Amino acid sequence: MENSYESNKLLSEYLLFHYGDDDEVMPWSDGPQNGLRFPVRTVQELVDSNSLKSSNNSRALDVGCSVGRSAFELTAYCKEVQGCDLSQSFIDAAKSLAERSELPYKYLEEGDSYKSTKAKVTSSSITSPTFFVADACSLPSNLGDFDIVHAANLICRLPDPSLFLNQLPNLVKSGGQLILATPFTWLEEYTPRDKWIGSGDSESKLAQCLSPFFKLEQKVELPFVIREHRRKFQYSVSLGTRWRRTDDF
Ligand SMILES: C[S@@+](CC[C@H](N)C(=O)[O-])C[C@H]1O[C@@H](n2cnc3c(N)ncnc32)[C@H](O)[C@@H]1O
Repeated sequence: MENSYESNKLLSEYLLFHYGDDDEVMPWSDGPQNGLRFPVRTVQELVDSNSLKSSNNSRALDVGCSVGRSAFELTAYCKEVQGCDLSQSFIDAAKSLAERSELPYKYLEEGDSYKSTKAKVTSSSITSPTFFVADACSLPSNLGDFDIVHAANLICRLPDPSLFLNQLPNLVKSGGQLILATPFTWLEEYTPRDKWIGSGDSESKLAQCLSPFFKLEQKVELPFVIREHRRKFQYSVSLGTRWRRTDDF
C-alpha cells in the first residue's frame, strides 16, 4: 500500500517535472523560474549539434530517463533515441507518451486535493524514442555504441556509480558525447558511503573516473525545481557537463 502510494506520488511529481507548464510547476511568480524545464535544458545547453551533422544514423541513449522528456528532446539531434530506467512505472508512462503523444495524470495541490492535467509531447522528428527497463549498473551488453549518452541526476541515485561509469567508454562512440548532470546529492539511502564519488571533491573525483577515455568540453550550472505540492518545492543545482570520448588507444 505504501509502496504504491509512494510510486504514484513520484510518478506524478516526475510527469509534472518533465511535462508540466511553467505555471503548474512553479505557480509563484517570485519563485525560482531558473529551475524550470530542466530535462529540456540538459539537452539544449549541453549537446554539441555541430559534431553530429555529418552522421545520418546517429544514436542517443538516455540512462535513468524517468518519464522520458530528455529522450524526446534528443530526437531533435539523433535519428535513433533509446531511454532506459529501472522503474517500470516511469517506463510505462514514457512508452504511453511515445505511442499516444499524451498522458492524463493528476498532480497534488494540497492535502488529498489533486488537479487533472495532461502530459503532452510534440515532436518535429519522424521517429519516437523507444523505452525499456534496465539497470544502469548492469546495462544489456547488446546495446551497441552511441553518438550521445545522456544521464541526468542519476549517478547519486545508484548503489554503485562506478559500475555505471565503467561502462561508458564502451557505450560512447569514439568522438561521441557524454552528457552528465548531477547535483552530487550523496545519500547512504541510495549509495553506500564507500561508493560515493568523492565528498566535497566530487567534481574532480568524477573527472578522474572518466579520464583517460573522456575529455571535458563544457560545464554549466543547471538549477532545477521539483514541485511536491502548491507550497512545497525541492530546489537543487546540478552540475551539467559535456565530455568528448577520446580516440581509442
Ligand atoms: C533523480 S531521477 C532523474 C530522472 C531524469 N533523468 C531527470 O533528470 O529528471 C533518477 C532516476 O534514476 C532512476 N534510477 C535509479 N536507479 C537506477 C538504476 N540502477 N538504473 C537505472 N535507473 C535508475 C530512477 O528511477 C529515476 O528515474
